[in-house]
Amino acid sequence: MNFSLSSKAITATKTDCLVIAVPEKGEWPETTKAADEALGGLIKQLEKAGDLTGKNASVNTLPLVDQPWQRVVVVGTGKDSDRTPANFRKALIAMMGVLKDGPSKSALICLADTSLQGEDAVSSEEARLNLIGRILEDQLYTFTEFKSEKPPARKLKKVVVQASGSAKALKDAFNQGLATGRGMNYTKDLGNTPPNICHPVWLAEQAKNMAKEYDCIKTEVLDEKQMEKLGMNTILAVGKGSKQPPRLIVMEYRGGKAKDKPYVLVGKGITFDTGGISLKPGEGMDEMKYDMGGSASVFGTMKVLAETKPKINVVAVIAAAENMPDGGASRPGDIVTTLSGMTVEILNTDAEGRLVLCDALTYVKKFDPEAVVDMATLTGACIIALGNQATGLLSNNDELANELLAAGERTGDRAWRLPLWDEYQSQLDSNFADMANIGGRPAGTITAACFLSRFAKDYRWAHLDIAGTAWNSGKAKGATGRPVPLLVDYLMTHAG
Ligand code: BES
Ligand code: MN
Ligand code: ZN
Repeated sequence: MNFSLSSKAITATKTDCLVIAVPEKGEWPETTKAADEALGGLIKQLEKAGDLTGKNASVNTLPLVDQPWQRVVVVGTGKDSDRTPANFRKALIAMMGVLKDGPSKSALICLADTSLQGEDAVSSEEARLNLIGRILEDQLYTFTEFKSEKPPARKLKKVVVQASGSAKALKDAFNQGLATGRGMNYTKDLGNTPPNICHPVWLAEQAKNMAKEYDCIKTEVLDEKQMEKLGMNTILAVGKGSKQPPRLIVMEYRGGKAKDKPYVLVGKGITFDTGGISLKPGEGMDEMKYDMGGSASVFGTMKVLAETKPKINVVAVIAAAENMPDGGASRPGDIVTTLSGMTVEILNTDAEGRLVLCDALTYVKKFDPEAVVDMATLTGACIIALGNQATGLLSNNDELANELLAAGERTGDRAWRLPLWDEYQSQLDSNFADMANIGGRPAGTITAACFLSRFAKDYRWAHLDIAGTAWNSGKAKGATGRPVPLLVDYLMTHAG
């Protein structure tokens, strides 16, 4: 797909399909006025006749003859007072639903001059171009690698987005949005790849490929022997029941000054979670291939950085293992010594995410991080608490937590904070080791984060539980690409 920005008069762009916005009452954007004029008042007439209501996210295709365009797609953008960024996103998604498999080979999208409600940061033209770029890539995503019959090729080949001028800031914002969408799509590809292919060593190969593709990315992979030497026994304990050995994957992007402390992203990379000896029930177990969704979002974010090259240092660490039951697997009751020296009694082998993450959280101290953010499909309890809308956020630092929440609001990739009070910590008491790896049914997301917090005391740290947000179940089953938009936005606010 070819994407570009244009600031020529809309009648000067040759295109099959013009996309314009019509609000429900209220003043029209300039591009809508210009289109109406070029079409001799057709849009006004149809609005008067009641054919175009302007209801948010309504989409009408008007076929034309003897006009500069073969068709006009009219996107309803609702009432001025209801035009939140969230509703605008819905309208963009509805528009893409019509465009992506429609008959047009090319389209000119005139939606960036529709003004939105809310704070300045989300109502600027830059923010809208960023969002449009992201939605374009995100909505054009397909995953057909394993279908023997491929769907017919898309007709749509060229999308031009209308902007008010040719300022660099506008282009940068649009390109940042496109790159974010592509990062999300990479995250989706990794999450959707079946677990017989996507195993820890395969994930490590993806990281090595990133280093090959982008000069600004360096990759290092620790194998099980190196981890054993260091004492990363909890990652090893999780991987023990699998024929696929675990890996610790490190990727570095250094776009900032040498002395700038790096932001560290840590991803849970369980390439399949059977539960281990504490075996999960069979129904829906296939979906546990996305238990590497945290690491997939780290990969996607690194790709965005590599493509947009912001001035910031970021280190990514992925703890990859497969949680399987066999004669070598960890048992409930096993006690292991973590890289930190603290001991853990594994009371449930299905609480494996925190086990691989705790060693990674200890390992990252060596990077002297500015802040550490870990991403993990950590608890089913988070889906019960927040559903598929919000990522669970827990942190030992209010400022960091608020910045991540704000990044989620700006991008619509929202998170919601849960408390990490000391009072919850005692749920992890063990009779035999320093701590247990589970804290009972109450507050399951919080006690999982309490466990992690014990390994993250030396730096500013936040944990994102993406069990509910990284994956769609049901008919639209598949990875979502979240929380890449949140992470990219957060990192960009810290780029020099
Ligand atoms: N990967 C799961 C969490 C999960 C469940 C993610 C469903 C997405 C959908 C995690 O490893 C797990 O099994 N957690 C247990 C923890 C429990 C044993 C304390 C859970 O949530 O049941
Ligand atoms: Mn599990
Ligand atoms: Zn898991």
